[in-house]
Amino acid sequence: MCDFTISQSPSHRYASPKPELFAVSLALPDMDEVGKWPRSAAIFGASGGIGRAIAETLAARGCEIVHVGSRSGSAPEGAAFRPFTFDLTDENSIAETARSMKNAPPELVLVASGVLTLSDGTGPERTYKRLDPEKMAQVFAINTIGPAIIAKHMLAFMPRDRRFVFAALSARVGSISDNGLGGWHSYRASKAALNMLLRNFALETGRTHKQGVIVGLHPGTVDTQLSEPFQTNLPEGQLTTPDEAAAMLLDVMSGLDADDSGKVFDFAGKEVPA
Ligand SMILES: NC(=O)c1ccc[n+]([C@@H]2O[C@H](COP(=O)([O-])OP(=O)(O)OC[C@H]3O[C@@H](n4cnc5c(N)ncnc54)[C@H](OP(=O)(O)O)[C@@H]3O)[C@@H](O)[C@H]2O)c1
Repeated sequence: MCDFTISQSPSHRYASPKPELFAVSLALPDMDEVGKWPRSAAIFGASGGIGRAIAETLAARGCEIVHVGSRSGSAPEGAAFRPFTFDLTDENSIAETARSMKNAPPELVLVASGVLTLSDGTGPERTYKRLDPEKMAQVFAINTIGPAIIAKHMLAFMPRDRRFVFAALSARVGSISDNGLGGWHSYRASKAALNMLLRNFALETGRTHKQGVIVGLHPGTVDTQLSEPFQTNLPEGQLTTPDEAAAMLLDVMSGLDADDSGKVFDFAGKEVPA
């Protein structure tokens, strides 16, 4: 059976400022300013277990504007939250959302949506014998094509002269070189394809947006609706809460720079191999 394999030796790669930054500390903003990143964010998939926790953690940390997107348009209580409605399978809804943020691009754009089991209960497949082209297409529409279309519309107005982070929740099981178990065909393949697209977008925008950061993130095994059917037989301590995952992922993202663009990182800041 597949599981959500996570690193057994988490180390917060950027828990402290990178050593080389000390050499230019006079040129940096003071730590109050650094601690405020991001001042604005857009979360696509803020109704999910991890997306909601990230939105709430951002607000609790003082992020001034948190755009929270879901199919229902629901939002947590709080002055920072700006709800929007979108569907990953409806490009117009994504384009309209992007247009609404064009004049004040968020410093962080996070795609926190995704699917492992389809809403009709189908999947993930453990054998090639159960592949169904329609179901595969649905998984790719949500996990790969939808995030790519969000990138299409949001990256178009990201600033060329400032740092921004565009991140999408991926999964370690999308790593081809790390795959020693097989199974979960559509999910794995959709995340591997997502990782490739993120790398492509990083290469393309890196030519013009020197401070842009585009990454995939593996959140660990997090206690949400998505992982709930697969939580039996997990090693002790492997399951984290959405709040724990949110805090770790935000710490990782805040430490990334342009050299990291195009890669996939886990919740501990460790690079996940392609
Ligand atoms: N949980 C884990 O252990 C784990 C491990 C590795 C990777 N991940 C990845 O982390 C991400 C978030 O997972 P989660 O555990 O937070 O899952 P979750 O609680 O099931 O949330 C899934 C989110 O995806 C959204 N979504 C699904 N279909 C959509 C569509 N057509 N249009 C717009 N939004 C749609 C859902 O919105 P609605 O409320 O509208 O349905 C919800 O916000 C996924 O990409 C997943 O692959 C999770």
